[in-house]
Amino acid sequence: KLEKTLAIIKPDGLLGNYTERVKETILESGFSILKEKTIQLDEDSVATFYAEHSAKNFFSSLVRYMISGPVLVMVLEKENAISCWRTLMGPTDASKAKITHPYSIRAMCGTNYEKNCVHGSDSPRSAQREISFFFSADAVTPHDEL
Ligand code: CMP
Repeated sequence: KLEKTLAIIKPDGLLGNYTERVKETILESGFSILKEKTIQLDEDSVATFYAEHSAKNFFSSLVRYMISGPVLVMVLEKENAISCWRTLMGPTDASKAKITHPYSIRAMCGTNYEKNCVHGSDSPRSAQREISFFFSADAVTPHDEL
């Protein structure tokens, strides 16, 4: 199924100059980058975007990290884009990914559980929510096509 997903290159990715490497990997893997923009998030927008984690002990640290520099947000499209992008990213904990998934983006460009370079939507519903969080309606898959 042709799907769209939201990808973010996080502040550590931009500061570490991994942007071109990550985008090359995305294109080589057959994704189309439909939309992209570089933005500086603020506390409120990060808190809203990551609302599902608001009760977690790492939440305040996650907010500080995500506002520590600009992020690059992208809408990716491909057959099974949501799971393909999550596979390409690798496990959340980049330090473990270096051992278990050494060729994943998080292994190559991330640092640890928090500073993991990239984000990807985890389901069709979150892809729809996350794409509409950053982009106008024409970038979003209509609800009845989910
Ligand atoms: P992401 O996949 O974008 O979703 C939530 C983010 O919170 C995650 O990537 C990490 O950046 C961060 N995160 C998740 N778990 C932890 C943790 N245990 N400690 C610190 N940060 C975490």
